[in-house]
Amino acid sequence: MSPKVISLSGLIPVVLLLFAHLNNPHTSFLRALLDLATPSLPFHLLTVGYFSNDHCLPDEYNPLCDDFPPDFPPPDMAETSIFCVDPNGCCDFTKVQDAVDAVPRSSHKRNVVWINKGIYFEKVTVPATKPNITFQGQGFDLTAIAWNDTANSSHGTFYSASVTVFAAGFVAKNISFINVAPIPRPGAVDAQAVALRIGGDQAAFWGCGFFGAQDTLHDDRGRHYFKECFIQGSIDFIFGDARSLYENCRLISIADPVPAGVRTITGAITAHARESDGDNTGYSFVNCSIGGTGRIWLGRAWRPYSRVVFAYTLMSDIIASEGWNDWNDPSRDQSVFYGEYKCTGDGANLAGRVPYSLKLSDEQALPYLNTSYIDGDRWLKPYCDSLISA
Ligand SMILES: *[C@@H]1O[C@H](CO)[C@@H](O)[C@H](O)[C@H]1NC(C)=O
Ligand SMILES: *[C@@H]1O[C@H](CO)[C@@H](O)[C@H](O)[C@H]1NC(C)=O
Ligand SMILES: *[C@@H]1O[C@H](CO)[C@@H](O)[C@H](O)[C@H]1NC(C)=O
Ligand SMILES: *[C@@H]1O[C@H](CO)[C@@H](O)[C@H](O)[C@H]1NC(C)=O
Ligand SMILES: *[C@@H]1O[C@H](CO)[C@@H](O)[C@H](O)[C@H]1NC(C)=O
Ligand SMILES: *[C@@H]1O[C@H](CO)[C@@H](O)[C@H](O)[C@H]1NC(C)=O
Repeated sequence: MSPKVISLSGLIPVVLLLFAHLNNPHTSFLRALLDLATPSLPFHLLTVGYFSNDHCLPDEYNPLCDDFPPDFPPPDMAETSIFCVDPNGCCDFTKVQDAVDAVPRSSHKRNVVWINKGIYFEKVTVPATKPNITFQGQGFDLTAIAWNDTANSSHGTFYSASVTVFAAGFVAKNISFINVAPIPRPGAVDAQAVALRIGGDQAAFWGCGFFGAQDTLHDDRGRHYFKECFIQGSIDFIFGDARSLYENCRLISIADPVPAGVRTITGAITAHARESDGDNTGYSFVNCSIGGTGRIWLGRAWRPYSRVVFAYTLMSDIIASEGWNDWNDPSRDQSVFYGEYKCTGDGANLAGRVPYSLKLSDEQALPYLNTSYIDGDRWLKPYCDSLISA
């Protein structure tokens, strides 16, 4: 292990000591992150550089940059520009937002914000004027953007996200989005805390992490693709009115555990917000797995035409037998579309499901099973071709 990087694994007290010793303002963030840590969190792998930027004087030898690729970032190309971010000042930017600010407006190139390993404690916005941006991290357990706003501190759940994307054509690879606000206790008001809000059309996430509790992932509007992502939360932890396909993702509940025999519900995975019959929105989960704690619903009907499908998904016994909830509004039973198809595991037993949920036929399931559901053939392919993992 390189001496300039400390693994949190088994060394947490050492890291905290170092942060405290350096009087680093990020100490409390890390503490909050560790409070959030559950056995399901992969952050035993997380490594962080522990020196502050003050140690990186320009033009001076900086040992932290030793293993930095000397020819990086590469020069601009006709199709791509790279904006390099490193917390220790080894390339052009130390903050992700500064790199985003440097991307030209309305660019037709792909602008790759290459983000070195580390936790970036900042609130980031990608405005609608900056389409075609990629956030390239080094691994969802190595690169993370974290902040701690809540619905209360930001005057509304919609503004609480650590990272907010309004632009079209956004791509993120191998990076985590974290909200480290305290986990809401029962009865807490306005404690919802979003990690990522994606409001732009044609967005794709490969190998990303989303960490929070209530309202982790605001999958707001547009067509979105999530592949091999890790999504952690408690109540309504994927919510919004987007049309999204989630493939091979791990959904981890940190909802309050419920003693055996008690029927309390402590969370829900989705709260989809389709408003009317004409809206072509919905969430489709294919070949995902559901685990963690609590006794939770697959979804509840935030809006009357809420639409969610789970297919080929492995469900642990944390899924309540009734499966779904109509937001305590029986009139929504007629308009929601809640379907399951060939799921497995203790939570996938359809015998106790609410009467308005559907066991999908092959024909009913077909539109939800591949990227055609999000018109992927029209926009997803070029993103796959331009993978940059330097
Ligand atoms: C993104 O870039 C492509 C070319 O690479 C361009 O065709 C497209 O219009 C851009 N997207 C937006 C929203 O500007
Ligand atoms: C976020 O963390 C900072 C640093 O610990 C703290 O001062 C601030 O109050 C926190 N914000 C919220 C909304 O909890
Ligand atoms: C909400 O924020 C206000 C300041 O905007 C603060 O005074 C109040 O204590 C906060 N409430 C909670 C529950 O955090
Ligand atoms: C389903 O997901 C698992 C785990 O992510 C993966 O190993 C497997 O290849 C996936 N199967 C298909 C058919 O995509
Ligand atoms: C998705 O499935 C549909 C129905 O089977 C099929 O027509 C379409 O070609 C498939 N799309 C992709 C991208 O595989
Ligand atoms: C993500 O990181 C893994 C190794 O951690 C690498 O194999 C993979 O190619 C990366 N993928 C992307 C899209 O960056």
